[in-house]
Amino acid sequence: MHRRESDEEQSSAPPTSEEVIAELNRLFAEEIEAAVRYLHLANAVRGLERLSVEPVLKAGFQETIQHAEIIARKIRSLGGVPQTDIQVSCPAEPLTGRDAIRQALTVEEAALEAYHDVLRRVSGDVSLDEFVRAQIAIESEHVAELRELLAE
Ligand SMILES: [Fe+2]
Repeated sequence: MHRRESDEEQSSAPPTSEEVIAELNRLFAEEIEAAVRYLHLANAVRGLERLSVEPVLKAGFQETIQHAEIIARKIRSLGGVPQTDIQVSCPAEPLTGRDAIRQALTVEEAALEAYHDVLRRVSGDVSLDEFVRAQIAIESEHVAELRELLAE
């Protein structure tokens, strides 16, 4: 095994600002993708459940867009320009409210995982570390809320 395999626990040197920008761009893409998915889900739900589920999905959309904006600002403050190359496909199929919430949960779990992933790589950068930890708290709450909605 090479040393590189375990540098998650002991990343010594703080990341360069290029590395930080690259990590932020990953999160930017993650949030934009989540926003697109929320927008799609909010408009794919059919039936009575729409009444209860649409507000949740719309709030998710607004929040992910806000997160993307915060990340874009951070990239800008480091002298970078946000960059993304996302491809999201959302099928033209109606969903039940439950299915939509289930998919939203998958989206939030992916975002949470992305933040955890970035945290492991930016531990040397105090301000980014703090930001990512705060986001992990927020995203974890969303995951918990969605799981609660799915509980029988
Ligand atoms: Fe988010």
